[in-house]
Amino acid sequence: MLKDYEQNKPSLETERLTLRPLTAEDAPDLKEWLGLDEIYTYWGRKASKGERDPELLFIDARPWVKRKPSQDFNWGIVWKESGKVIGMLAIFDVQNQRMASVGYRLHPAYWRQGIVTEALRRAVDFVFSETELQRLEATADIRNVASLRVLEKCGFIREGTVRQGKMVSVYCDYAIFGLLRSDWEEGKA
Ligand SMILES: CC(C)(COP(=O)(O)OP(=O)(O)OC[C@H]1O[C@@H](n2cnc3c(N)ncnc32)[C@H](O)[C@@H]1OP(=O)(O)O)[C@@H](O)C(=O)NCCC(=O)NCCS
Repeated sequence: MLKDYEQNKPSLETERLTLRPLTAEDAPDLKEWLGLDEIYTYWGRKASKGERDPELLFIDARPWVKRKPSQDFNWGIVWKESGKVIGMLAIFDVQNQRMASVGYRLHPAYWRQGIVTEALRRAVDFVFSETELQRLEATADIRNVASLRVLEKCGFIREGTVRQGKMVSVYCDYAIFGLLRSDWEEGKA
């Protein structure tokens, strides 16, 4: 259940990867790639200040604010061979314990090796086997072929294309993908 994970976020394993919560100690690994503008081509923006200087991402600017426990999962993707954090994968925008969005980004030196597909498959298995979520969804600019392929390979169904809609910080044609618990169960059968 989502509630069981509000305080303690899990780590997940695959053959080549560990997905685990990030800590301030990961900032030097993130600094090697998170600030590269090529990652954000289809998000219509350049890397942000925090992405260029990831130490900032771990500083709580308003520590006195009491925050509700988050139901999001924000994993770092660790390349087991080196122990380095080479990517990020998030399950975010959880709505009414019912549906959530997925997002991911990877160090460009590691693109096209099936890494995010491997990570997302594991995250999907976790979500549908350990939480009550019924639907995962994702959006991708229709020119972002790598992201479209990742979603297809992980069993997401392309449900439609929004023409010149707003995605992240840009207006573009973007595809909406969804994966239902029932799709996932069928895929396993
Ligand atoms: C999208 C992204 C996460 C993909 O990660 P990845 O680990 O390289 O993806 P995978 O290797 O698992 O799969 C990529 C697939 O796309 C294909 N692909 C990649 N680039 C391609 C291109 N330019 N043209 C055609 N196919 C391409 C690969 O061949 C592979 O498909 P295949 O296994 O059928 O050959 C990575 O490119 C990235 O971080 N991009 C920037 C951030 C981003 O766009 N995030 C998603 C926002 S919606």
